[in-house]
Amino acid sequence: MSDSKIIVALDYPTIASAISLANQLDPDRCKLKVGKELFTCSGPKVVEKLTAKGFDIFLDLKYHDIPSTVAKACRVAADLGVWMINVHTLGGQDMMIAAREAISDKPHRPLLIGVTLLTSMTEETCKQIGLVGTLESTVLKLADLAKKSGLDGVVCSPLETKLLRTRHTEDFQLVTPGIRPADSKSDDQHRTMTPIQAVDAGSNYLVIGRPITNAKNPMQALEVIENTLR
Ligand code: C5P
Repeated sequence: MSDSKIIVALDYPTIASAISLANQLDPDRCKLKVGKELFTCSGPKVVEKLTAKGFDIFLDLKYHDIPSTVAKACRVAADLGVWMINVHTLGGQDMMIAAREAISDKPHRPLLIGVTLLTSMTEETCKQIGLVGTLESTVLKLADLAKKSGLDGVVCSPLETKLLRTRHTEDFQLVTPGIRPADSKSDDQHRTMTPIQAVDAGSNYLVIGRPITNAKNPMQALEVIENTLR
């Protein structure tokens, strides 16, 4: 297993384009994230192919359903041999506990991560669905609930990382998208940090997509980021 903190987001609409990018990367130097678009078009096959190449896979399907349905989905995801999976913490404590229990007997159990609030949520959209309090207080509450339910960590915006790290020890994994190297375009990400800023704030894993996948030489772009982390 690679000890890299970098998870490259494979946001592609076909298995061929995802594999073509993976072929340009070294499995000892990064992990890969397979999300809803790629998984919906290609199914478990893409996970099998990437795993066979030696990559650790974060299967980012953000399960959110009744506890038994989420538990069964987590079990079959674990059987695919992925390294990390996730659920929505808004599914509640019973759902998270069921997910955790469903994979606890797996020999190489994947890390189970909770999505707190999607970074696309604003105070206004939270209010619309009846969530009271500030975004920050909701994120903290959901992360505490994830920890209490036995999850291994949460996905969080880089700007929430520091605060979460003051409440949770290093073994509670903080997985952070919204990362942009200093010289890189922000694309549609608004609240970004550089890789080293996010790591200094307490992030365990950095999810990075376009700054690597859109680069002329993806491996070189990865190396430049690695160098900023030394
Ligand atoms: O290309 P970019 O680096 O912006 O990709 C970030 C990845 O992280 C995408 O796959 C995106 O869906 C995911 N993500 C995010 N913000 C979240 C959760 C996931 O950007 N809150």
